[in-house]
Amino acid sequence: MSNGEKVTIKDGKLNIPDHPIIPFIEGDGIGIDIWPATQHVLDGAVAKAFGGKKKIVWKEILAGEKANKLTGNWLPDETVQAIRDYVVAIKGPLTTPVGGGIRSINVALRQLLDLYACIRPVRYFEGVPSPVKEPQKLNVVIFRENTEDVYAGIEWAAGSVEAEKLRNFLVHDMKAKIRDGSAIGIKPMSPFGSKRLARMAFAYAKTQQRSPVTIVHKGNIMKFTEGGFRQWSYEVAAEEFGDVTVTENALKEMGGQLPPGKILVNDRIADAMFQMLLLRPTDYNIICTPNLNGDYLSDACAAQVGGLGMAPGANIGDEAACFEATHGTAPVHAGKNKANPTSLILSGVMMLEHLGWNKAADMVVKGIERTIAQKTVTYDLERQMSGASLVSCSQYAENIVKNMG
Ligand code: NAI
Repeated sequence: MSNGEKVTIKDGKLNIPDHPIIPFIEGDGIGIDIWPATQHVLDGAVAKAFGGKKKIVWKEILAGEKANKLTGNWLPDETVQAIRDYVVAIKGPLTTPVGGGIRSINVALRQLLDLYACIRPVRYFEGVPSPVKEPQKLNVVIFRENTEDVYAGIEWAAGSVEAEKLRNFLVHDMKAKIRDGSAIGIKPMSPFGSKRLARMAFAYAKTQQRSPVTIVHKGNIMKFTEGGFRQWSYEVAAEEFGDVTVTENALKEMGGQLPPGKILVNDRIADAMFQMLLLRPTDYNIICTPNLNGDYLSDACAAQVGGLGMAPGANIGDEAACFEATHGTAPVHAGKNKANPTSLILSGVMMLEHLGWNKAADMVVKGIERTIAQKTVTYDLERQMSGASLVSCSQYAENIVKNMG
């Protein structure tokens, strides 16, 4: 068996060997259950899709509780370096240590590797319990900016020396009205940060031939930050994707008929977007949005199609990509072989697509569709579905492999 080769990246283009080495972080809590299940499904799909010609060579890297136990460090430097070196990685959920130096391992990974886009595809699988009448109508991919906005972590506590110093400057030099004793946070949003996210969203829409791309912002209230995001995203659409994009106004002039191969670009105010995704879900496809809006929208959309247990995610930058389950470590279920591995498996599907191994990715999706349609599901879905049979995490994975076609 080959020892594998590194995935490389040059001028933004990935070079994928037939036996790529892919680092994985097993994850804490239910990671011990859902990671082996995910690996089994991904290996099964790659073997079936490529008849043994391609194969992933998995390389374990450490983070979280396992890393802390073995190395005394929650996020060893070698782990970050391995993701940088091997370009593509996948991870299970990680405990956020309470107290101590590190705020969140997930946030640290995103910052250290500059994984500036958080990508969340949200689609429905027939049979999954959902709170809405027609969950199948929602099929979107959310591109959320990952490094700026009020989430940049630039804030000072009420009554702190720093907050008072800043307040003094803002009140006296900038003539801003801020109450005495306020906590103060900063919301930085740059053309650089906004444009590189928009670029990724439009490039995805173009290769996947998906339309429209909707810029979601609160530019009506926050004119320079969120309004800036809107403007810079439109600039990317016009200047870098002008050959394929058509704005809503231009579409009206064309009589409302989008020419084949073109991508409509529009924008919506964030609060209205929450309504629109419930009332007219089929009008939307790719969503490009700043950090905070994206955080809220991702969870709301996931709930609409049956919850976070089914929703995959990826954090992607120009030099590296890390695919991950969107839920946490569910410690009470750890090691019981009962957790639902779908979120991590679907993150693996995103990873296969990122590698260009779409045939294997499609097989996994088929396998999940059939397994859920047969109502053989893990406890979290079984308790909400009528006539369903309860299966373990590993049996569910086995069923997916059998159902791949
Ligand atoms: P959680 O997502 O672990 O659990 C929330 C609820 O969902 C629980 O009832 C849990 O049992 C259930 N659940 C989650 N995943 C499931 C699955 N795959 N199958 C079946 N049921 C599932 O969130 P919680 O309790 O807030 O956090 C627990 C730990 O996870 C914390 O240390 C937190 O910091 C960490 N966390 C890590 C994340 C990551 O690594 N990306 C994301 C969110 C939380």
